[in-house]
Amino acid sequence: MTTPNKKILFLPGDGIGPEVMRQVARLIEWLEKRHVATFTVTEGLVGGAAYEKHGVALTDETMAAALEVDAVMFGAVGGPQWDTLPFAVRPERGLLRLRKEMELFANLRPAMVFDALVEASTLKPEVVQGLNIMILRELTGGVYFGEPRGIETLPDGSRRGVNTQVYTTSEIHRVARVGFELARKRHHRVCSVEKANVMESGVLWREEVQKLHDAEYPDVELSHMYADNCAMQLVRNPKQFDVIVTDNLFGDLLSDCAAMLTGSLGMLPSASLGGADSSGNRKALYEPVHGSAPDIAGKNLANPLACILSFAMLLRYSFDMGTEADIVEKAVENALAHGIRTGDILQPGTDQVSTVQMGDAVLHEMDRLSTS
Ligand code: IPM
Ligand code: MG
Repeated sequence: MTTPNKKILFLPGDGIGPEVMRQVARLIEWLEKRHVATFTVTEGLVGGAAYEKHGVALTDETMAAALEVDAVMFGAVGGPQWDTLPFAVRPERGLLRLRKEMELFANLRPAMVFDALVEASTLKPEVVQGLNIMILRELTGGVYFGEPRGIETLPDGSRRGVNTQVYTTSEIHRVARVGFELARKRHHRVCSVEKANVMESGVLWREEVQKLHDAEYPDVELSHMYADNCAMQLVRNPKQFDVIVTDNLFGDLLSDCAAMLTGSLGMLPSASLGGADSSGNRKALYEPVHGSAPDIAGKNLANPLACILSFAMLLRYSFDMGTEADIVEKAVENALAHGIRTGDILQPGTDQVSTVQMGDAVLHEMDRLSTS
């Protein structure tokens, strides 16, 4: 059955963004060729690429396009050539503007260890084998956007830098709600993470998550943890977690940490979701957690799997195409099981392939899965 046309905006960005996104474009062609769905894909500039052409990291036109489509597929932004630019036009601002104006408050960062990659982790195999946790990061609030912010010069000529950590009840509830709903589809456990021992915003976070739990989600097991302890527990015994819900900054740190449990940052997908509208649709942006990796950009060396797995999340969360998402994820698992590896996850006895060859391998496995 062919489902109605689905609109996706491609924002490949900088560094390895364009080359990993090209592998996703091939997956879209695959789906269309098999009449699974038709997509309308448009493309725009973001990050340093947008800065070079327009002098800003995201134009108003591209912002408007992002608000109009069903889902945004995002590559990566940034690079050393833009590191000295003023804050307001830095490549990262493009991504932050998308998150803010699309109101993508819920950032899902699953960390899964594929059996074939158990040895690729820097942790002992028994610590990570079978790991499947979900980090849910609040994405539009906290210290990333809090006011006042800025750098000021004091009368004595010294300078003062300020950022503000701030959360309201509704901001905490809406992300915690997503966490409890996710837990209901998983193992019914949520660990809420803050620094209530030193921060008022952390005290509020803890109290409000507990209140929402008691009122609406008593079937889910809720625990609370300080963020520093959580960082330690993630490398000590990560399998104790099911869903972790945390704020913007702690989520940024803890998700990088969790990424490394899986062997490589090149494996981690993410989905950033907004609130549901009256017909149940959510604004959404999908991006690999890895950055632009300028050192290997343009060399056909990058691992496209995080981007491909992000596309699987797009199929699942934006288009309700769970079957196809399963096929993509299974194809990735099979390709890895056959010893096919990009450089970042290379192990003794496996074959190093290029970005495009990894795309070939995933498509090949998708062929096999759909005919079997
Ligand atoms: C991430 C990144 C971003 C962040 C940067 C690129 C602005 O580290 O998505 O984790 O800090 O949120
Ligand atoms: Mg980060």
